[in-house]
Amino acid sequence: MRSVLDESDRLRSRIVAGDENAVARQHALGKHTARERLDLLLDPGSFTEVDLYRRHQARGMKISENRPHTDGVVAGSGTIDGRRVFVYAQDFSVFGGSLGVAHASKIHKVMDLAISTGCPLIGLNDSGGARIQEGVMALDAYGGIFRRHVAASGIIPQISVVIGPCAGGAAYSPALTDFTFMVRGTAKMYLTGPDVVAAVNGEVVTHEELGGADVHGSQSGVATFVHDDEETCLADVRYLVSLLPANNLDSPPSDGPVGATTDERPHLAQLVPVEPTKPYDMRSVVAEVVDDGEFIEVHEHWAGNVICALGRVDGRPVGLVGNQPLVLAGVLDSAAAQKAARFVRFCDAFNIPLVTLVDVPGFLPGTAQEQGGAIRHGAKLLYAYCEATVPRIQVIIRKAYGGAYIVMDSRSIGSDLSLAWPTNEIAVMGAEGAVNVLFRKELTAAADPVTLRAELIAEYSEQLMHPHYAAERGLVDDVIDPAQTRAAIARGLEMMGTKRAAAPARKHGNVPL
Ligand code: COA
Repeated sequence: MRSVLDESDRLRSRIVAGDENAVARQHALGKHTARERLDLLLDPGSFTEVDLYRRHQARGMKISENRPHTDGVVAGSGTIDGRRVFVYAQDFSVFGGSLGVAHASKIHKVMDLAISTGCPLIGLNDSGGARIQEGVMALDAYGGIFRRHVAASGIIPQISVVIGPCAGGAAYSPALTDFTFMVRGTAKMYLTGPDVVAAVNGEVVTHEELGGADVHGSQSGVATFVHDDEETCLADVRYLVSLLPANNLDSPPSDGPVGATTDERPHLAQLVPVEPTKPYDMRSVVAEVVDDGEFIEVHEHWAGNVICALGRVDGRPVGLVGNQPLVLAGVLDSAAAQKAARFVRFCDAFNIPLVTLVDVPGFLPGTAQEQGGAIRHGAKLLYAYCEATVPRIQVIIRKAYGGAYIVMDSRSIGSDLSLAWPTNEIAVMGAEGAVNVLFRKELTAAADPVTLRAELIAEYSEQLMHPHYAAERGLVDDVIDPAQTRAAIARGLEMMGTKRAAAPARKHGNVPL
């Protein structure tokens, strides 16, 4: 018995240590090994591995002679701050992390366990894609991953971390999950690599230009978070998990109240200029609203005209959506609508209340937007809010014009609590634009159009845009001192802490995609 155990221990140690040269190659690329990454991600000593000894059973193309254990992916479960997660980490040092039947079966197993136990799933992707030697069986194995991602969607949070190549069909795994992290320099994600691009289009492009972290973080919107190195990336994955419930039936983890319901923030009024066209950074408003000024921004470098962030208010995790007057004056456009819509749907699926900070002059005009489907994309955000049943608080800071006002969680589409600062301007459009439309003929004929325009603007502002106009009509619950914003949100969240909504009796809606 002893000798069998000793033999087993030796084998286990060899597998865990990995091939010395392959490990050195991984380090030389500035990358950690799969096991080192799991050590960075999980609480020390918490990892339980599945399928340690698993080997591929493939034949042909010289692969039968090369059958390493674990088959290029380390899979199992561990904890983050004591809360259970399921993980897999692809190991580029084995067949370039490529995915064959055995490799995929291990991923299928942890995905099934994550779904059945109701725990988050985190995949660390570092792979050359479908294992060429295993042919169509490798493609079939990918399909099993994608199907499970979709089955898990809205049931457990799913996080992808891309820290190496993620090519071809493999890219659909991050695309189907809730959040995708990428590390600059080493991560590259594309459907077809530079060689195929050159052969088909004659276009010469580098890996980084085609699918590097910055491309996906700021242009395509595929990456939700971008980091300079693996350590900060995996630390942020831990922080993100600390804000999420384990599954859709769980509540987000609360830290307990910190006295926010009476916390006055006089600085808020100074942060926001009274003049409606003057810019300010909505992030500074978010920082005043959340506990300890701490939040994580989703898609920080993409569609900056809207910000989406997760943080806590009085200990409770919340999702914050805000127009960003620093970028494009905070207008909504196609990218911003897509970004916010996906965020709203995530928060709604996982019982995270929504706080919407409104300062929006409207939609971005122009042929590029209209021809690019701005109506279809804007409808995604509208749909997402209309469908959301989590507690929803709207705070109108300054401008809230036209269709963009409706979309930004207005009372009419289901906001539970609507608050407005005295600087609010809720209207079909700004005073100047409105006067130009309504009194074009009168202004053209006037002897003194400048004075007439000023009078009409003053009249419009007084009659249709005064601070209590919407509140008098029940569309705003309270006009608050800006200093009270954090306290009012905290009280609203407390008030709606037990909000319940009946599930609609239908298979699913038809969200505009
Ligand atoms: N199937 C089988 N083996 C693969 C593989 C795949 N899809 N991708 C990489 N490998 C192997 C390589 O043959 C190499 O093996 P070796 O160490 O025995 O020589 C090892 O993994 C490392 O790959 P290498 O090409 O040397 O690494 P790189 O860092 O220079 O390039 C990639 C990485 C991913 C860009 C490159 O390997 C590649 O283009 N792979 C194919 C990607 C693809 O088209 N996959 C199918 C999509 S579904």
